[in-house]
Amino acid sequence: MNILLFGKTGQVGWELQRSLAPLGNVIAVDVQSTEYCGDFSNPEGVAETVRRVKPDIIVNAAAHTAVDKAESEREFAQLLNATSVEAIAKEAEKINAWLIHYSTDYVFPGDGTKPWVETDATAPLNTYGETKLAGEIAVQQYCTRHLIFRTSWVFAGKGNNFAKTMLRLAKDREELSIINDQFGAPTGAELLADCTAHAIKTAIEKPEVAGLYHLVASGTTTWFDYANLVFAEAKKAGLELAVNKTNPVPTSAYPTPASRPQNSRLNTQKFKNAFGLTLPEWDVGVKRMLAEIFAAAKA
Ligand SMILES: NC(=O)c1ccc[n+]([C@@H]2O[C@H](COP(=O)([O-])OP(=O)(O)OC[C@H]3O[C@@H](n4cnc5c(N)ncnc54)[C@H](OP(=O)(O)O)[C@@H]3O)[C@@H](O)[C@H]2O)c1
Repeated sequence: MNILLFGKTGQVGWELQRSLAPLGNVIAVDVQSTEYCGDFSNPEGVAETVRRVKPDIIVNAAAHTAVDKAESEREFAQLLNATSVEAIAKEAEKINAWLIHYSTDYVFPGDGTKPWVETDATAPLNTYGETKLAGEIAVQQYCTRHLIFRTSWVFAGKGNNFAKTMLRLAKDREELSIINDQFGAPTGAELLADCTAHAIKTAIEKPEVAGLYHLVASGTTTWFDYANLVFAEAKKAGLELAVNKTNPVPTSAYPTPASRPQNSRLNTQKFKNAFGLTLPEWDVGVKRMLAEIFAAAKA
């Protein structure tokens, strides 16, 4: 089985290189690839890659994920998150390939407190959400065999992330103010990649599972509580932090170019039923990542 992976160096793409390996021959590309085009600013180029590789499965982890920047470069975000996705979806359909794609809770307006279900009405608050919604619609419209996973608050040990930023600030500052009115589930790239591999295996045996799913870790937190967990774990691990006071603040305390939803909760029942998987609590993955960060810091 040939698997074409786009976006191999992103948080999720990196973990997919590992989790997809036991399923078949993985051809992984990113924006810098030379043998095959993996540049989503070139829709014809990525379509040509699908034509040449003729994969059984395409997994797309590439995206324009800079939420604030997208506000000032809408056309570029649309090109990456929708136009190239549409081009790939059309090619996938021609060769009867599966297309696995990721989307976001930012397709929702973020009001209320109920976890969103897949059939809830979408109404993105920002350009990133609008372009990701356009990408979802293209996949659904042009490729029969698709799996779309909407997720939220993705973290990975690789690269920068919220926990690392908090630890850096906490080393110098005694007091930190952190947003406490956005609710969601931090979801590990490892978990997403592992669930994707399991879901692909199910989809091959049961093509009727094709569709749109919410996929996040279990439980809910806020950035404030998430940060406090990071500090508690750091102290347990013996790290010296200056911070001794954290203040919960509303989103309005940190104005950003893109509006963010307050309710990022996603209901994952459909995913769990279709694929027979259990989704661990969000802090399981966060603690694991922190243990890796602390071990690396001590080495
Ligand atoms: N991160 C989150 O909190 C979050 C939340 C909900 C949903 N998602 C979705 O989950 C999926 C995976 O996201 P992630 O967290 O792994 O994001 P990520 O780490 O930002 O990965 C996205 C990848 O796309 C690459 N990319 C940027 N411009 C490109 C281009 N022109 N052509 C090809 N690739 C390009 C990026 O490369 P560079 O790093 O070199 O720019 C990066 O490797 C995306 O669909 C995203 O929308 C993410």
